[in-house]
Amino acid sequence: PAKQRLLVVANRLPVSAVRRGEESWALEMSVGGLVSALLGVNDFEARWIGWAGVNVPDEIGQRSLTIALAEKRCIPVFLDEEIVHQYYNGYCNNILWPLFHYLGLPQEDRLATTRGFQSQFDAYKKANQMFADVVNEHYEEGDVVWCHDYHLMFLPKCLKDYNNEMKVGWFLHTPFPSSEIHRTLPSRSELLRSVLAADLVGFHTYDYARHFVSACTRILGLEGTPEGVEDQGKLTRVAAVFFPIGIDSDRFIRALELPQVKDHIKELKDRFAGRKVMLGVDRLDMIKGIPQKILAFEKFLEENPLWRDGVVLLQIAVPTRTDVPEYQKLTCQVHEIVGRINGRFGTLTAVPIHHLDRTLDFQALCALYAVTDVALVTSLRDGMNLVSYEFVACQASKKGVLILSEFAGAAQSLGAGAILVNPWNITEVAASIGYALNMPADEREKRHHHNFMHVTTHTSQEWAETFVSELNDSIVEAQMRT
Ligand code: UDP
Ligand code: G6P
Repeated sequence: PAKQRLLVVANRLPVSAVRRGEESWALEMSVGGLVSALLGVNDFEARWIGWAGVNVPDEIGQRSLTIALAEKRCIPVFLDEEIVHQYYNGYCNNILWPLFHYLGLPQEDRLATTRGFQSQFDAYKKANQMFADVVNEHYEEGDVVWCHDYHLMFLPKCLKDYNNEMKVGWFLHTPFPSSEIHRTLPSRSELLRSVLAADLVGFHTYDYARHFVSACTRILGLEGTPEGVEDQGKLTRVAAVFFPIGIDSDRFIRALELPQVKDHIKELKDRFAGRKVMLGVDRLDMIKGIPQKILAFEKFLEENPLWRDGVVLLQIAVPTRTDVPEYQKLTCQVHEIVGRINGRFGTLTAVPIHHLDRTLDFQALCALYAVTDVALVTSLRDGMNLVSYEFVACQASKKGVLILSEFAGAAQSLGAGAILVNPWNITEVAASIGYALNMPADEREKRHHHNFMHVTTHTSQEWAETFVSELNDSIVEAQMRT
């Protein structure tokens, strides 16, 4: 049978464009859990619609980039600088992102944010309408339109306004916060109503789904049922447990067999011979708890002088959203702490922390995961955290330990195998580091086995298949109800 046509709509395309000349473009892989999960989805005739991360004001540029992206089955939405400023940097990343992760509005410019709110929300709606226009242009009858993440909460409504027959799903890749938090958003009702225009709404965990339903009942006064949310006879299905997100675990396992990756692993082993390797891989984002992680590591070194030349922390901190002031501040803060600790515990030949502000390519990342003894994920909040999954997938031979924040969605799936910590409690994290470094092999094996089973059986492919088939079913059921 012909594959189901799928239009995947997300703010971020899987490739980001860099202009090399008037008509020449370089395409680089985009970084982030959303892109990683969706890359593992192959069983559809899929097209991506999204922003290529670059401002292209001229027609020649737009035309040539459209052609370059078509080879990757991507269709660009062109957002001008002002919209990017107000919608992406402003409403999405300065308001929704911190709020959905329980961080509140940025402290220093709370009033400015409050004042700018309306114009940013207007830009948000305008941007969502621009995505809808592109979807509408490429839509064919029978397509499934799958919208993603907090950038596009307005999109389901725009799409249904165009064509009520469209099959529309929406999936959130961040936490959905308690209704007590969502309630503080001036646009709280409008956002919920537009999401509810979708036929199926999905979340990473049961808690997020429950928060969403209670926001709809408390804020909109609608009826929440075990199935979802009902508004005047129209049911929007809400679900989480049916489709936990995952990774393409085979891709990681296969990569470890490649000669280049094996060489890389050998190099790393030689380089860090005699030391245990601890690893952090995060976008340099305030939700990741990077300062907390580093302070906990410092405390561990402070309390365990014998480990000072026996362990190294490699922190890959991928630059992200660099035009947002909060992110710029975080970069400075992290550099300061790393510098201080390396100054304090470093020697002429070695430093305890290797902090890199950069991305790694896929093979280098796999090699790093494979040589790691202890991975440290200390998110203050995190929708899921796929880095923890990737680490587990690459540890079949080493069986290293995962220290994982209880505030990451992944704590609910990898909790039994990982050491769960509260990242705010650096005494506890420091103690867990010691526990992990000293863990006997049989305990490591048992813990690893548990997580490895989960990661290899809950793949991104299955996540997408279940979501799309549930979406098809919800529509059939809705037709039967009328
Ligand atoms: N990643 C990457 N290059 C890097 C570092 C990370 O492609 O140099 C990827 C990593 O493999 C993972 C994703 O970025 O798939 C991060 O996803 P996660 O869910 O952990 O967090 P997010 O960035 O979505 O908040
Ligand atoms: C998180 C979000 C994604 C986003 C990614 C990278 O994973 O859920 O929607 O793509 O971060 O952030 P960026 O702003 O660079 O797209």
